[in-house]
Amino acid sequence: MSFQVDVVVMAAGKGTRMKSLRPKVLHRLGGRALAQHVIDCAARLSARSVVVITGHGAEQVEAGLSAPAAAPGAAATALKYVRQEPQLGTGHAVQQAAPALPDDGVTLVLSGDVPLTQSDTLQALLDLCAGERLALLTLDMPNPTGYGRIVRAEGGAVQAIVEQKDASEAQRAITEIYSGIMAVPTRLLKGWLARLDNQNAQGEYYLTDVVKFAVGDGVSVQAHRIDDAVQVAGVNSPLQLAELERAYQLRVAETLMVQGTRLADPARLDVRGTLVCGQDVEIDVNCVFEGRVVLGDGVRVGANCVIANAVIEAGAVIHPFTHIDGEKLGVSVGPGALVGPFARLRPGAKLGAEVHIGNFVEVKNSTLAAGAKANHLAYLGDADVGERVNYGAGSITANYDGANKHRTVIEADVHVGSNCVLVAPVTLGAGGTVGGGSTITKSTPPGALSVARGKQVNLENWQRPQKKKS
Ligand code: UD1
Ligand code: CA
Repeated sequence: MSFQVDVVVMAAGKGTRMKSLRPKVLHRLGGRALAQHVIDCAARLSARSVVVITGHGAEQVEAGLSAPAAAPGAAATALKYVRQEPQLGTGHAVQQAAPALPDDGVTLVLSGDVPLTQSDTLQALLDLCAGERLALLTLDMPNPTGYGRIVRAEGGAVQAIVEQKDASEAQRAITEIYSGIMAVPTRLLKGWLARLDNQNAQGEYYLTDVVKFAVGDGVSVQAHRIDDAVQVAGVNSPLQLAELERAYQLRVAETLMVQGTRLADPARLDVRGTLVCGQDVEIDVNCVFEGRVVLGDGVRVGANCVIANAVIEAGAVIHPFTHIDGEKLGVSVGPGALVGPFARLRPGAKLGAEVHIGNFVEVKNSTLAAGAKANHLAYLGDADVGERVNYGAGSITANYDGANKHRTVIEADVHVGSNCVLVAPVTLGAGGTVGGGSTITKSTPPGALSVARGKQVNLENWQRPQKKKS
C-alpha cells in the first residue's frame, strides 16, 4: 500500500486561556514551539507536505515556525500556510486548506496545540486508512466532558461523532472520545467538506460531521483506539503546558536511560533541544540542556549546570553550577578537562585536553591548548592560550578598547601571575613569566620575567592618622 500523505495542522484558534500575547501554538515545550513538534512529527512520517492553518496571530505564527529537517534519504516535507479568517469551526478550517491538498493523497488532520503524538501512533492510523477508509484516533477517558463522543452501532461500527454541546444524555455517558486527529483520503474529504453546514448547538462548521457522511456513503470508518492520554492532550492553559512539559521531559529521560545514561533523578532533567550521550555518562540533578549538546563517553555533569550548544569530550567533568552557552559559535571542552564549579564558558570557548577551568572563570572566543589552567576568578576573552599555560587568579585580558576587540596570544608554558591585566593586542612569548599585579601593554620576549607595576616603597615607623578628640 503506498500513498502520499499531506498533513493539515489546525492552528487558527485563539488560545484565550493561555492569557498570553504570544499565539498559543508558539509557546514552547522542550525548547520548541508546540506547532513545531507537530510539523516535525509530520516529517518523521515522510509526509509530502504540511499545511498549517493560521488565523489568530497568523503573521507571528508563520514567522515562528520552520520547515522540518528531512529525514536521511527522504524527500523534504514542504511547509505551506493558509489563512482562516474568521474562525468558523474545525470543518471551516480544513475547507481553507482543501485547495492546497492534492486529490491523490491522504490527509492527516492534526492540531497545532497537541504536541506529543508519537509518529508510530500516526503511522498506525495511516495504515488503518490505507488510502480508502476514514480513520479516527480515539481514546477512552474517565471524564470525557467537552470532547466529541464516538457513537457506535450495535455491532460496534462507528456511526458518528457527536459534540458535547449537541449530545443527548445517553451520548454524554460515552467515554470513547475523538482525539481531533483523523486520516482520510483527500478526494473523499473534499466531497464531504463541501456538504458541511453549521446547523448545530455552536453554529460552527464541524469537521467531525464527515463521519456521518462517510457512513452514509458506505465508506468504512475505523477507530484506532489508544490509551495513552498524553499523546492526544492539548495545551489550553499554562497548567496544561507545564504538565505536558514534564511528560515530555520524562520521555526524554527514559530514552536516555534506556541508552545507558545515568540520571540522578529523571524528574529533574530538562532537555530543550537535542542531547546526545556516549557511554557511561552521569548527570546529576537540575541540569538544563539547550540547543544541541553532545556528551562524550564517561562525561560527568554536576548538579545545577546549564549547558547549551556544546560538545563535551570523553572523560571531561563539568562541576556543579557551571554555565556553558555556545550560541552560534559553539563551545568545545576537550577530553579529560575539568570545568567549574561556577565556571562560565561563552561562545567560541575551545578547551583542549586536560584543561582546567575553575570557579568564577569566564572564557569567551578563546582557545586553550592541552593542559592549560585558569583555576580562579579570571577572564579570558579573544585569547589564544598555549599548552600548559598557568593563568593566575584575578587576571584578565583587556580585549576591548571601547571600539574594537583585539586578541591576546599567550604562548606555551607561560606563567601569568595573579591579578594581571593583559592589554590586547599583546603576545606573551613562550616560557615567560608575568609578575603578579602587572599591567602588560607590550609584548614580552620568550623566557623573560616581565613585571609592570609600581615599585614597592616602605616608609619606616609610619604613624597612622588618629581620630580627633571632640
Ligand atoms: C474538537 C472536535 C472534538 C474533539 C476535540 C479534541 C470538532 C467539531 N470537534 O473540539 O470532537 O473531541 O477537538 O480536542 O472538530 N481551530 C481552527 N479554526 C477554527 C476552530 C478551531 O483552526 O475555526 C483549531 C484550534 O486552534 C485547535 C483545533 O482546531 O487547534 C481544535 O479546536 P478546539 O476548539 O480546541 O476543538 P473543539 O472544536 O472544541
Ligand atoms: Ca471549539
